[in-house]
Amino acid sequence: MSVPIITVDGPGGAGKGTLSYSLASELGWGMLDSGALYRVTAFAVLANDVPLSDESAIANIASHLALEFVPAAEGLTQVLLNGQDISLAIRSESCSSAASKVAAMGDVRAALLERQRQMAVAPGLVADGRDMGTVVFPDAPLKVFLTASAEARAERRHRQLLAKGESVTLARLLETIEERDARDRNRTESPLVPATDALVIDSTGISADSVLDTVLREARLRK
Ligand code: C5P
Repeated sequence: MSVPIITVDGPGGAGKGTLSYSLASELGWGMLDSGALYRVTAFAVLANDVPLSDESAIANIASHLALEFVPAAEGLTQVLLNGQDISLAIRSESCSSAASKVAAMGDVRAALLERQRQMAVAPGLVADGRDMGTVVFPDAPLKVFLTASAEARAERRHRQLLAKGESVTLARLLETIEERDARDRNRTESPLVPATDALVIDSTGISADSVLDTVLREARLRK
């Protein structure tokens, strides 16, 4: 029997993480944060001073990551690399920027593909990313593409960073969001596009609860 999967794709900051976590909790399913795989690869690349131009060395790193995801309090997940907790480090600005660059490399994506597919185990999986519905799980019965205006996404990130005590201007955030969107959308390898059969939701001005209700309703209809 195939494992039920809901894919949640879309640009950064649209609320995919919140939606995926809520869906996984509601349904009692596992969760794949595929962005974390690209972030951890970027972390290892930066930590080992590997040039961002050396695709084969980076793909080699990606295929040998000694990585563990450990569920932590309040829906957070601890990310361990060789036993070291790097959960905060992979969210840094330098890691985010490097992650977006390594994610554009075909050999790196290929190196991470099987690891992602192995996460599809009973009772079900919510897979969060950019290419979950188009490349990694093309047969998933429910595919969501969650988007929001770049301004709304920048404001959201701004609030999150301020709450964490980090200071960054809204204008600067908007600029980096637009730069990463362009890289994700225009790359040759697994570009960010909705699957042809995706349920597209624009979350601009809509509450997270209302988005969750819409997706849960669809999930029940497709059971
Ligand atoms: O989702 P998150 O921001 O953590 O992802 C980090 C980076 O990894 C993104 O900038 C995106 O370029 C890349 N990514 C990807 N494919 C995925 C998930 C993330 O290319 N499935």
